[in-house]
Amino acid sequence: MLTCPICQAQLSPVDNGLACPANHRFDRARQGYYNLLPVQHKNSRDPGDNQAMVEARRRFLDGGHYAPLAKRLAELAAERGPLTWLDIGCGEGYYTAQLAELLPEADGHALDISREAVKRACKRAPQLTWLVASMARVPLGDASCDLLASVFSPLDWQEALRLLKPGGGLLRMGPTRVHLMELRQKLYDEVRDYDDQKHLELIPAGMRLAHSETISFPLLLADAQARADLLAMTPHGWRASAERRAAVIAEDFEVTVSIRYDWIEKGSAR
Ligand SMILES: C[S@@+](CC[C@H](N)C(=O)[O-])C[C@H]1O[C@@H](n2cnc3c(N)ncnc32)[C@H](O)[C@@H]1O
Repeated sequence: MLTCPICQAQLSPVDNGLACPANHRFDRARQGYYNLLPVQHKNSRDPGDNQAMVEARRRFLDGGHYAPLAKRLAELAAERGPLTWLDIGCGEGYYTAQLAELLPEADGHALDISREAVKRACKRAPQLTWLVASMARVPLGDASCDLLASVFSPLDWQEALRLLKPGGGLLRMGPTRVHLMELRQKLYDEVRDYDDQKHLELIPAGMRLAHSETISFPLLLADAQARADLLAMTPHGWRASAERRAAVIAEDFEVTVSIRYDWIEKGSAR
């Protein structure tokens, strides 16, 4: 099912890696993932989230603060019963691993452009196919997936449309306009409004919103490491002033977690 990121032909296993008929070869890393991001498709030496961001996100998520979000994501995916699925922009794999747990029979894949992220993620669920790859050129065939997951990540909608089987869908999870509001109020004099419907305008012809739901809960941030990690794993880590960030890390506070899930289906073939 994997395709060559250079010529799009099918990849087949060769010693310790993959190759296409034109002999473009890709090694399997020691950790078990495939690097299908050729150097000519990179816009920097190490694209995507860096090691510090990946480690902050890993510590925060492993602290269980967002466990209800992952649980609902996996339930929604399992209700769809996909045979083949792909997590696009999987990061360090916290959500991916929970999807895998509720989809034990399915053929699961996950990709991220950050090698630092995939290197760690693949240890969470070695049974999946883990890829360092770009979401703009996903090395999987047309109509190959029943379900795509996109969690707090950017998305290439045309690629999503191409990858989905007719009747399949995209499960998107993203913030509502009140997500982390108390944190944002501490960091900025004027809190920028966030339009949590904007992504719906990007849904391409051939796909339609079939279901949405939100989940919200208060979260007490009672340890300084968790507060520092939450800052480091979001754009607030570099956007806010150093003084405001230090003030946030200094004191316990409660924050609203508020997330929306959208299930966006690709129309069935007639
Ligand atoms: C906010 S993080 C979310 C990670 C993970 N889904 C989670 O919620 O823990 C966004 C991820 O998208 C990845 N990313 C950004 N641009 C990408 C691209 N063009 N192709 C693949 N991944 C990309 C980043 O490396 C990062 O891991």
